[in-house]
Amino acid sequence: MRRKLFVGNWKMHGSLVANGSLLRDLKAAAWEAQGDLAVCVPACYLAQCSEILIRSGIALGAQDVSSHTTGAYTGEVSARMLQDFGCKYVIVGHSERREYHGETDEEIAHKAQRAMAAGLTPIVCVGETLAEREAGRTREVINMQMDAFLSVLEPEETNDLIVAYEPIWAIGTGMTATPEMAQEVHAMLREKLVEKSAEAGELVHILYGGSMRPKNARELLQMPDIDGGLIGGASLIAADFLAIAKSVL
Ligand code: G3H
Repeated sequence: MRRKLFVGNWKMHGSLVANGSLLRDLKAAAWEAQGDLAVCVPACYLAQCSEILIRSGIALGAQDVSSHTTGAYTGEVSARMLQDFGCKYVIVGHSERREYHGETDEEIAHKAQRAMAAGLTPIVCVGETLAEREAGRTREVINMQMDAFLSVLEPEETNDLIVAYEPIWAIGTGMTATPEMAQEVHAMLREKLVEKSAEAGELVHILYGGSMRPKNARELLQMPDIDGGLIGGASLIAADFLAIAKSVL
């Protein structure tokens, strides 16, 4: 049985003062969560957050990583650097990176590889646009995104990643996939993982992301293949993030 995992993606939000207050509130009540907690913070705040989270049980993550190991790549942050700051996770291929930074499936696969080589767990994001869903192309789009990174991983490496299903039309919009819609895609994702490694089907967490809120979390988390959430907006409010993490039956 996979323990639920709740990952807050702060995106480009926060400040020294706001982060301190949010993390202190989370730490004080983290024991109430019915699963594991993690926060993926802006790179410039990793040092601050890493220090605050020491011995808290809340894991630290980053929101992106370079597809290179080291070298003349101005502005990039390597997986080794993230590891230096105590990161356990890194989000890879978020739809906002794909859309605003032109990240390709190939680049995302390299990022996942770099993360794993440095001992980090990549949270690889996949998801369809509204147009793709309406055209009945959800399965095809997600298959392509999954194949791109699964094809560069060894079967045993597949056991060490996390997949996040984030329907793009649900991100930050207040529109959530119904539990049934999300479960259908999560089950398909698990089948893909099993094709690569039977163990991965058992071990890999598949998170749902897209307007997950305290009011809809319980229904989503009841689904057999939804192992937790990748939570944006609601993770910026300690009470909401914790309420989601307490929504497990
Ligand atoms: O990474 C998180 C997702 O993009 C979901 O964001 O919860 O604000 O819709 P949201």
